[in-house]
Amino acid sequence: MITVGVLTISDGASRGERQDLSGATIRTFVQQLPNAIVSMGAIIPDEAVQIAAVLCEWSDEQHLNLILTTGGTGLAPRDVTPEATKSVLERDAPGIAEAMRAISLQYTKTAMLSRGVAGVRGRTLIINLPGSPKAVKECLEYVLPVLPHAINLLIEGPREH
Ligand code: MTE
Repeated sequence: MITVGVLTISDGASRGERQDLSGATIRTFVQQLPNAIVSMGAIIPDEAVQIAAVLCEWSDEQHLNLILTTGGTGLAPRDVTPEATKSVLERDAPGIAEAMRAISLQYTKTAMLSRGVAGVRGRTLIINLPGSPKAVKECLEYVLPVLPHAINLLIEGPREH
């Protein structure tokens, strides 16, 4: 079973001022993955300390296979998701973020404004998605089919070298 965490990072959604449509979009995609289940979900503000704390808890304590975040990847002053994510990653997986930006540029030039990153903490793959439901759909359609293989590599590899 692939266990997935969906982390929505949005000041507005965390205050209940805005519906979490992007988180819902991620959940719909995860349901299409064979043997995958969303076992953790949260909506938090654009605060780096909180973001890092949830990522650590879901990786180190919950041992999720995959964490998908949405929001906070742009250039606005409160967009701190990439920095918070990088602060907890042990290894980068730049190809995933590169692939998402490459496919996204075919939809919109503003894709170049997303600074989202991807990488590994322990045996958990963490991927930043942009904030809009449209962007989530465009990115996940492209990368989701590759994720079961990525997760298998993380699970099956030896823990000690
Ligand atoms: N990527 C895709 N595929 N589709 C989009 O519409 N929007 C862009 C970009 N990436 C977009 C996209 C825009 S307008 C912004 S500002 C950045 O993602 C960052 O979004 P975020 O701050 O909500 O994470």
